[in-house]
Amino acid sequence: MKSENIQPALKDVFKDDFYIGTALSLNQISGNEPDAVALVEKHFNSITPENILKWEEVHPEPDKYNFEPADRYVALGEKNKMHIIGHNLVWHNQTPEWVFQDESGKPLDREGLLKRMKEHILAVVGRYKGRIHGWDVVNEAILSDGQFRKNKWFEIIGEDYLVNAFEFARRADPDAELYYNDYNMWKPPQYEGVIRLIKDLQSKGVKIDGLGIQGHWALDYPPLDEIETAIKALSTLGVKLMITELDVCVIPFADHYHNLIDLSSLEPEMQKKLSPYPDALPDSVQKELAERYAELFSLFLKHNIRRVTFWAVHDGQSWRSYMPIRGRTDYPMLFDRNYKPKPAFDAVVKTILRSMPNGKNKK
Ligand code: GLA
Repeated sequence: MKSENIQPALKDVFKDDFYIGTALSLNQISGNEPDAVALVEKHFNSITPENILKWEEVHPEPDKYNFEPADRYVALGEKNKMHIIGHNLVWHNQTPEWVFQDESGKPLDREGLLKRMKEHILAVVGRYKGRIHGWDVVNEAILSDGQFRKNKWFEIIGEDYLVNAFEFARRADPDAELYYNDYNMWKPPQYEGVIRLIKDLQSKGVKIDGLGIQGHWALDYPPLDEIETAIKALSTLGVKLMITELDVCVIPFADHYHNLIDLSSLEPEMQKKLSPYPDALPDSVQKELAERYAELFSLFLKHNIRRVTFWAVHDGQSWRSYMPIRGRTDYPMLFDRNYKPKPAFDAVVKTILRSMPNGKNKK
């Protein structure tokens, strides 16, 4: 306990550089995990809800909104004077099927879906007007080849679904910051596609305040210089850049498993391969994780990054251990399953000492 008390707070360490954020689970928002909330209140000055504002959670049925968890989430942020993020309004995942259908189950037409999108955005953003400070308006619209993802929004409304989503959000809360958020942003065709998209939206009079680079990365993926090249390219847009969903996976990526499966359903050899550290993280990997976090934070400090948000408070919360394979044990965060800071925490804190003091507050 003693050593924990002398840990500096991350939000103080980076106060002149960027907001330090974290994603909150429903459990944490509901007050069922006080140890995690204590870490959040000590170290972070920005929060994002991991799931509770996604369409299927906040608006599960046509006439039913479930605002209670989001009310608690916003109250927690306000109590701590945090920079509160809404995530997300328009996405292809975690959106119920009914959204795209009429009462008889037939696909909606363009007007029908636009009406639905408008109602949803006005209701959700409107409820937290002036209280949620920034919204991920559209999530993951561009594919890694730079083309539009052919999701239902695109198929039914057309590519101007993004124009509409941003306009509805702007109307619902003219003062909130509005963001586009995506992964694979370090891949050249992807960020070039995003740059084209943002320029196109801007040319149509849509004001976009920021871009979220998700940051679901690994020990050696993506290469640091490729992340830097992408940050430089995206900086040319003149909008705020944020690392929105940072975690560093230390076990093999398993993206080829498209359906959720249980680790225990695989052969023992395969289990060992896909979840090599079921009991503890070996010191050597702990060190690699610390080095990786240090190089990432040194890079963030070098560029004009507005916010860095971790996609979990601690290892035990991270989706990496249950998606796409349930029952693995990953160690992607700065805090371990016992809420203790890992060597990666110290490594991140040290990056500030090594960075050139620039004396300006970038936030
Ligand atoms: C995407 C979404 C997040 C989360 C992660 C992991 O990155 O933006 O909300 O769902 O996938 O599941």
